[in-house]
Amino acid sequence: MPSSYISIPVSFCILIIATSLCSAADTISAGQPLAGRGGKLVSKNGKFALGFFQRWTGSRSSTPKWYLGIWFNTVPELTPAWVANRENPLPDGTSSELIISDDGNLAIFNRPNRSILWSSQANTTTNNTIAVLLNSGDLVLSDASNSTAIFWRSFDHMTDTFLPGARMGRNKVTGWTHGLVSNKNSHDLSPGIYSGHPSPDSANFELLLSWNSSVTYWSSGQWEGQYFSNMPEMSGRYLFFSEFVSNDREEYYTYWLKNETVVTRYVLDVDGQAKMVLWSDASAEWIFFYPKPDAQCEAYAVCGPFTVCREDVLPFCNCMKGFSIRSQEDWELGDRTGGCNRNIPLNCASSNSGISGGLTDMFYAMRNVIYPDNAKHIEAGSAEECGKSCLGDCSCYAYSYSGKCSVWNSQLLNVLQRYNGSASDEGILYLRLAAEELKTSKHKRRMIVRLVIAATIFAALSLFAIICMFVRRRKRQHSSMEPSNIRGGIMAFGYKDLRHATKNFSEKLGGGSFGSVFKGVLPDSTVIAVKRLDGARQEEKEFRAELSSIGMIQHINLVKLIGFCCQGSKRLLVYEYMPNHSLDAHLFQSSGMPLCWGTRYKIALGVARGLAYLHENCQDCIIHCDIKPQNILLDASFVPKIADFGMAKFVRRDFSRVITTMRGTMGYLAPEWISGVAISSKVDVYSYGMVLLEIIFGRRNSGEEYNSDSTYLPVQVVNKLLQGNVQCLMDQSMHDGINLEEVERACRVACWCIQDHESHRLTMGEVVWILEGLIKVDVPPMPKVLEAISGGTDSTIA
Ligand SMILES: *[C@@H]1O[C@H](CO)[C@@H](O)[C@H](O)[C@H]1NC(C)=O
Ligand SMILES: *[C@@H]1O[C@H](CO)[C@@H](O)[C@H](O)[C@H]1NC(C)=O
Ligand SMILES: *[C@@H]1O[C@H](CO)[C@@H](O)[C@H](O)[C@H]1NC(C)=O
Ligand SMILES: *[C@@H]1O[C@H](CO)[C@@H](O)[C@H](O)[C@H]1NC(C)=O
Ligand SMILES: *[C@@H]1O[C@H](CO)[C@@H](O)[C@H](O)[C@H]1NC(C)=O
Ligand SMILES: *[C@@H]1O[C@H](CO)[C@@H](O)[C@H](O)[C@H]1NC(C)=O
Ligand SMILES: *[C@@H]1O[C@H](CO)[C@@H](O)[C@H](O)[C@H]1NC(C)=O
Repeated sequence: MPSSYISIPVSFCILIIATSLCSAADTISAGQPLAGRGGKLVSKNGKFALGFFQRWTGSRSSTPKWYLGIWFNTVPELTPAWVANRENPLPDGTSSELIISDDGNLAIFNRPNRSILWSSQANTTTNNTIAVLLNSGDLVLSDASNSTAIFWRSFDHMTDTFLPGARMGRNKVTGWTHGLVSNKNSHDLSPGIYSGHPSPDSANFELLLSWNSSVTYWSSGQWEGQYFSNMPEMSGRYLFFSEFVSNDREEYYTYWLKNETVVTRYVLDVDGQAKMVLWSDASAEWIFFYPKPDAQCEAYAVCGPFTVCREDVLPFCNCMKGFSIRSQEDWELGDRTGGCNRNIPLNCASSNSGISGGLTDMFYAMRNVIYPDNAKHIEAGSAEECGKSCLGDCSCYAYSYSGKCSVWNSQLLNVLQRYNGSASDEGILYLRLAAEELKTSKHKRRMIVRLVIAATIFAALSLFAIICMFVRRRKRQHSSMEPSNIRGGIMAFGYKDLRHATKNFSEKLGGGSFGSVFKGVLPDSTVIAVKRLDGARQEEKEFRAELSSIGMIQHINLVKLIGFCCQGSKRLLVYEYMPNHSLDAHLFQSSGMPLCWGTRYKIALGVARGLAYLHENCQDCIIHCDIKPQNILLDASFVPKIADFGMAKFVRRDFSRVITTMRGTMGYLAPEWISGVAISSKVDVYSYGMVLLEIIFGRRNSGEEYNSDSTYLPVQVVNKLLQGNVQCLMDQSMHDGINLEEVERACRVACWCIQDHESHRLTMGEVVWILEGLIKVDVPPMPKVLEAISGGTDSTIA
């Protein structure tokens, strides 16, 4: 009897000790503080942890600082999701603990001098409270005897991270707003200059991004029922559900995950972009997508004062001429609010007194810029007068003149340079610099001017000679309608000739945003396809891209350019005619002839060979940038030809990457496009993988057929590959002749091509070898981004 009496409390104690050893607690109560040294709360699902951690807040500052915060427990690199004391980091976390203070609030208690260093400062009605770290990553302080009486929660005090389940909005009763404030730099967690918050106008709920609480540079637009108008990708089709709630007490936007196991967050980055971020176990890194605003330079003053932001060069922030970086250390940590400093001070006094011969300030013309803010308009009859009045004012830093005179008296913020580099008189900013600054380059400039003049004269003479030759030749062939052969077999056609050949552009083969394609016949009865570029804005760029890429190369799997016409404003390209049109007609449209397996496999291999040639065999690597079934044409015997090089990019051999604006077609875009980093030829590999899946299965990866009941095709394919049973997904229209070994091989290739991380994808050369059966590959891992975006695996699909 007595033995059993004793055994109950003993085993009870053992149980308590065992649970506290095995799993970290998720609760703090009055008697159970969290120790600064080694203490940690872990949410029940193991996803989040709370505790003290240290961070170096600057690369050269010697001692790390301590923060109390919540981080992602399953992610190896410590990534804070919330920080309690971002304004007041602790010098030493090991002597502190997180307690429930006498008034029931959460507090950081410093043991050596018994002081409170941080408190949740809520109006508690009892001091009998507990704090629990929930599965969502929310730390909630509530009445210990009534968990629905909540006094404070970390979700109401977000730092730079908006976790699924948190609310971005406003409490209409108290006026409290829930928003984000970026970190100061990539190490220092103290509040930075960018903020994300609901619009102050409560009649019109929008989410805004602002700089220094004063300049709004991006807005989400109105709620459209399922998403905000400027962020349609948040419609919750793939990764999460979104919701906007508005009632008497509050209005807020929230989102939550379709699959709780995905580790993701929405963050307002130090560079002013708000982004969705997803942890990829496969590549062991955070993957960014859906940045807002889309372009880095649209984040207001992202480079700081006296800088120029350009989208097309890396680094995108550069000092203006005559300026250098103020603090290299801050700059490298991503905090560029300091901007750049003037190298040589202005000689304002001497220019003001008008002493001739003395050093005066001069202006440096910056072309193609979008002007800084806060211009002051003054009366001036001419550009010269405008410049003079700027020189006369010691506080004038720059001027511009386009009908009216604008001057800038404050530091120049948010200057963007356009990327196409064509000189135009619009958008010239005259930057005031000390004369010494320009003197050094003036000598050089004179040299350059002389060279340019010489080159121009030479070019003019050559052009004259060519025109003379051309005119004489045309006179000779006047009635023969022979186009002139310029180089490498490419002909220059006259517009009239092409209009005649296409019977006044009567037989249209297709069209797109670029313009239209027409069928035609040349006098020697060659059948041609004539592409007429109509889009006024892009046409010159695309015309040149196409001429310079496809014009110089020839390969059986690349469409052959026969010639072009460049007359006045007319831009046309002439190709060999493809009787079987484009691949998408055969794959997705009932009108096209269904392709048998053997043909499909040959097409897949042909496209791979064409791309491998572009990437690896040309003088410069050519990235096509828009591989999709519409751009793969089929000749009479179904040999595939890659077409439409209007978006192609050249990458010099000694570089492997190029930074460019996003181009291509949704559904075939590699994730790195979306995250805005420099791209490589692996973007084509990704698109090829997507196209290959469509070739194999004869249906679109996504589109109208897609609904939330069926899993995204690429994800299904990887699942079936892992189960060793891809045949069950095959197109019914192919009847027989399916070579199961080839199907398996092609599926593996496709899935290796669509891996999240570029380095995991195959090269096009490897794709060719594998499809030819020369080398073998293993079953690929699941591409995590795709899986997450498509809402996870679905085992109910047979
Ligand atoms: C709560 O407050 C009462 C009196 O205000 C005090 O006696 C008691 O110790 C407090 N309890 C805790 C857990 O701090
Ligand atoms: C207690 O120590 C901390 C850290 O050493 C310090 O920040 C704080 O000011 C001190 N408080 C008092 C009341 O001395
Ligand atoms: C706490 O109550 C006081 C007085 O009623 C009020 O002024 C204050 O805003 C409240 N604080 C919070 C965080 O609700
Ligand atoms: C628990 O707290 C809620 C919210 O303050 C309150 O409405 C409810 O009556 C409380 N329940 C009990 C049993 O005290
Ligand atoms: C931000 O605004 C404050 C006051 O509104 C101003 O004092 C400060 O200089 C501004 N910061 C920058 C970097 O311009
Ligand atoms: C360059 O950009 C300017 C302004 O956007 C535009 O007017 C001009 O046509 C562009 N030039 C080319 C060659 O694209
Ligand atoms: C969620 O994703 C994981 C892998 O990330 C997967 O194993 C699990 O089955 C998914 N759950 C659901 C309900 O889709």
